[in-house]
Amino acid sequence: MTDPARHTGRPAVFLDRDGTLIEDRGWLRSPADVRIFSDTVPALKRLAAAGHELFIATQQSGVARGLLTAEEVRTVNAHVVARLAAEGIVIREVLCCMHGPEAGCDCRKPNPAPLLRAADEFGLDLSRSFVVGDHPHDVELARRAGARGVYVRSGHGDRHRDELPEHVTAIVPGIREAAEWMLTLHAAGERSADLDAEVAQAADRLRRGGVVAFPTETVYGLGADARNDAAVARIFEIKGRPRFDPLIVHVSEPGMVADVAAEIPPAARELIRRFWPGPLTLVLPKRAEVSDLVTAGLPTVGVRMPRHPLALELIHRAGVPVAAPSANPFGRTSPTRAEHVASRLGGAVDAILDGGPCAVGVESTILSFAEERPVVLRVGGLELEAIEAAIGPVRVAPPTDDLPLAPGRLLRHYAPHTRLVLVEEAAALPGGARAGLITFRGHPQEAAFGAVEVLSRAGDLREAAAHLFAAMRRLDALGLDVIHAERAPDHGLGRAINDRLRRAAR
Ligand code: TXA
Ligand code: MG
Repeated sequence: MTDPARHTGRPAVFLDRDGTLIEDRGWLRSPADVRIFSDTVPALKRLAAAGHELFIATQQSGVARGLLTAEEVRTVNAHVVARLAAEGIVIREVLCCMHGPEAGCDCRKPNPAPLLRAADEFGLDLSRSFVVGDHPHDVELARRAGARGVYVRSGHGDRHRDELPEHVTAIVPGIREAAEWMLTLHAAGERSADLDAEVAQAADRLRRGGVVAFPTETVYGLGADARNDAAVARIFEIKGRPRFDPLIVHVSEPGMVADVAAEIPPAARELIRRFWPGPLTLVLPKRAEVSDLVTAGLPTVGVRMPRHPLALELIHRAGVPVAAPSANPFGRTSPTRAEHVASRLGGAVDAILDGGPCAVGVESTILSFAEERPVVLRVGGLELEAIEAAIGPVRVAPPTDDLPLAPGRLLRHYAPHTRLVLVEEAAALPGGARAGLITFRGHPQEAAFGAVEVLSRAGDLREAAAHLFAAMRRLDALGLDVIHAERAPDHGLGRAINDRLRRAAR
């Protein structure tokens, strides 16, 4: 731990193999058994591009149990490395333990010896490094090596989630989001002279009744101590938000829900287990202590645990539930970068934490348990399909202007200043120098427009959602006469994209 080389060296990522980089399909004997996750290659490319050295750290105790041979394991490892190499991804070394627990070796997870040796050999800074895996021992390995652990729910991750220690917040769906998590921390660390101090100071401001803008994986939030009415009232003032519009309470661990919700139905519990931290807000019966200002007098409270490392760190350090709407003037486009907040609300808030661009880019999905059967009040960053796969069919409430249900459902919302018009299928577009175009993956008439924003050339809905609000802002800043917007396919995150476009177009 005291070796200075470790503090000046390069950051590394130690990646578990089965369930993290490739599908966990039992004992893998030959290259034919290997299925690399589709997110693995792009995720590793981004990590490498940001300067991370990549390692595979895998445990293959089936060898000790006579279920597969060392040669089979080596062949599969070499195949994975070669497949990644063919994509231009360099794996420095495969750290592979083939022993059983009885061997008393020092290479079995969570023994940090192999990581410490790699750090010496390759000149790594473990304090800026990560271990990613789908087993609690991967997180423990990180802790013992002085690195950070990121737990993926792919592979066996969902099954062992309950065995994780309470304090672990880096829990992500898979390798793609794991890379986002690591890159976010890496970039924030590069930007700030002392990130820890910055977060600690922001937490202190929150505790003292301040209003702090902070990043989440969906959009930036404007936060205040949910138990402090004067602080919460300032949020409404800064945003110009009507008091009938309730705020979402943000927590840093599932256990904090009990502080604000009077009751957590079994289906809500299941969703928390599966999707938190993440872009899902649950509307639950509130506890009496939660102020009417936060809930706009409703008997329910909206609560969510965000997935951004800085958000979780901030809330954890503040030690209070944080009420926060999106950090934009009421009715306007939500901010997905710290600059968006600074330009509109900069002077009015006590601090802005810069966590880089929001990875999801559209607000959380809101699911209400106020009635007998769960109802989606707002489609958002968690796909409806994922929710239904977990708890069965849910009803989606139609957009409405009825109050006070959910003003995020107001017919006009998320609006740019420039008139926005939805493109009707197959219609010829007027175009012109003073017209802008938002297109999902490209449009044959692009050349006819003064400015064009393509949300995802690859046609990836997640990428498109992440770009939507920034694209709207860029076009809005050009002072065009009109913005034409093309709909995305109406499934997955496409639903949330189309919902925001529809409201912006009113
Ligand atoms: O992704 C998000 O949810 C972001 C980030 C910052 O977490 N937050 C966000 O907050 O979008 P906001 O205030 O812009 O939208 C929250 C929506 C509002 O439309 C509000 O009416 C609704 O959630 N909401 C909050 N509490 C509710 C409740 N008890 N019942 C019904 N709707 C509620
Ligand atoms: Mg695994």
